[in-house]
Amino acid sequence: MESDVNGVRKMEKKELVQMLALEDFEPVYRRADAVRRENTGDIVHIRAIIEFSNICRRQCLYCGLNSTNEKAVRYRMSVKEILDTARQAVDAGYRTIVLQSGEDPHFHKETLGEIVTAIKEMGAAVTLSCGELTFEELRYLKNCGADRYLLKHETADPELYDRLHPCGTLKERVECLKNINRLGYETGSGFMIGLPGQTLETIASDLLLLKELNCKMAGIGPFIPHPDTPLAGEKAGDTELTKRAVALARLLLPKANLPVTTSLGVVNREEKDNAFACGANVIMKKVTPDPYKQAYEIYPAKLEKTDVIGDRKKLEEQIRQLGRIPL
Ligand code: 5AD
Repeated sequence: MESDVNGVRKMEKKELVQMLALEDFEPVYRRADAVRRENTGDIVHIRAIIEFSNICRRQCLYCGLNSTNEKAVRYRMSVKEILDTARQAVDAGYRTIVLQSGEDPHFHKETLGEIVTAIKEMGAAVTLSCGELTFEELRYLKNCGADRYLLKHETADPELYDRLHPCGTLKERVECLKNINRLGYETGSGFMIGLPGQTLETIASDLLLLKELNCKMAGIGPFIPHPDTPLAGEKAGDTELTKRAVALARLLLPKANLPVTTSLGVVNREEKDNAFACGANVIMKKVTPDPYKQAYEIYPAKLEKTDVIGDRKKLEEQIRQLGRIPL
């Protein structure tokens, strides 16, 4: 194994597979932690996420919000509700608002643009995560001031992608990510660990795709089966493998913002803390008002009632206890 970061940056698929399968991964975790510290410092960025609509036109087999799930209780927040929530989050100290939704055609670029402009006026950075948009829509929203865009590629294996996504192709998704990058957004992608049919080779390709896409952010989380989806009977993704993928993402993308995903904490609360020692430097906190938060059920999770100020204080305290600096 190469000992310098530059050597690791040139890692190829075969090496990545070998590393993912290592008996003792501790030295890699230590290296990822050191690379994180050197490149991004001890700050943990806390982002506020507003899940403003769970209406989705897609049918992704793993997702509780897929349009064929008739048990999902659907909602759409009004522009006023979204902006009131963003205001509360900014007042509580959040510097970035992440606007996430299903692929909901109701939110035209003009409506989204109005929301982006208003949040930018509050002094916060805006990250959009609303699925695949056209070049023109993305361009419009960039001009409204949107800073970043999150669109996970989900899996870099085109056949597995096809099996899991009755709508869309990996090629279209990658094209959209390239448009995002071209337009000057900070580009965020990511993928799931433990998708049925995924192998270590797939995960290695996932990691290499992050680099190819010039990602500045990457969310890597375990798959969690949702009971009202076709993948209900499958196993949840492995948390150790998830952390390994995060650590390798840190080595490949030393300066990237790597969140500890919510799903990791859902599978195992402790692993969420541990992931901060494996290369992660970001966490997202839901500020979505009740009962919408509970209805945004991508995967099953027990969610506490939203308390925008109190939740943030608690999280800041937890981050300080890990010896890190919340921001
Ligand atoms: N388990 C874990 N993560 C999921 N996502 C969607 N469904 C699941 C699931 N069942 C992730 C996808 C998507 C993000 C919003 O949530 O990666 O991009």
